[in-house]
Amino acid sequence: MKPNILITGASGTVGQYLLPFLSQKAYPCIAWDRNKTSISNYESMEKFVLSSHAEVVIHLAAITSFKESLRKNAWQVNYEWPSELAWICRTHSIKFIFISSAMVFSQQQNGPFTLDMKPNEQHGYGGEKRQAEERVISQNPQSVILRLGWQIAEKGTNSMLHYLDFRMNENGKIMASTQLFPACSFVTDTVKIIEKSFDFEAGIYQLDSNKEWSLFHIAKALSGKFNKNWLIEASDKYHYDQRMIDERININPLSFHLDFS
Ligand SMILES: NC(=O)c1ccc[n+]([C@@H]2O[C@H](COP(=O)([O-])OP(=O)(O)OC[C@H]3O[C@@H](n4cnc5c(N)ncnc54)[C@H](OP(=O)(O)O)[C@@H]3O)[C@@H](O)[C@H]2O)c1
Repeated sequence: MKPNILITGASGTVGQYLLPFLSQKAYPCIAWDRNKTSISNYESMEKFVLSSHAEVVIHLAAITSFKESLRKNAWQVNYEWPSELAWICRTHSIKFIFISSAMVFSQQQNGPFTLDMKPNEQHGYGGEKRQAEERVISQNPQSVILRLGWQIAEKGTNSMLHYLDFRMNENGKIMASTQLFPACSFVTDTVKIIEKSFDFEAGIYQLDSNKEWSLFHIAKALSGKFNKNWLIEASDKYHYDQRMIDERININPLSFHLDFS
């Protein structure tokens, strides 16, 4: 029997792929409806989680926008909600999978990031995610935390493709750094690892498909794959290596999908 899955943030960029992927594999899935269950009341959250008969809770939901006007409830959504869910799952012996981000590492740190490197982002979304990771572990030491890189997805707004389209529309060209090595993966590969994580032991895991490519090279290869009419110019202004290493994660490398020749 496949376990019952409860997913938060199911309508987001990753959720739009994860929910159909798991449903197709015959997992009974329920999406958290924020119109029905408030995220600010512990008792109603606990009641809902129990009524869902969830055996695994996958917490995707987050305020991922960097626009200040959209970040009003960011602390509650990005820190307090995962904290409460981790506790509810601990109390009722439900597996808790918290989806985190490569942005827990700050720009003062330089990758490739290995698991022994302690992230230290203090501000904004990455700072909230970093503190949430620590809180989730203290609330529920059995939690599984998956750090994702930038997602490559055709649907949703929080994706590298969407960002590059936006840059192109805004500026008539895309300036892409040859010195920026982003952590990233195709969302279709990410959801496969999320499924595998149902059997992972407690701890932090890092999912990254980028072995060696700069944003410039990735943008070029994406343009070819998705028939984009992008004008991409190389820049060397922005130096940062965000790549993450975790030998335990068997995720397709970018070269599985993209032609870099
Ligand atoms: N996409 C990426 O490139 C990327 C990279 C690294 C890490 N991640 C992590 O992956 C997870 C999923 O990201 P995503 O790309 O799917 O994000 P997204 O497209 O921004 O979607 C996030 C979802 O969170 C829920 N949400 C948004 N605002 C909320 C609010 N004010 N209160 C409560 N819930 C709210 C919404 O789902 P509902 O309306 O269904 O509730 C929303 O669709 C996040 O935890 C993110 O940190 C993503």
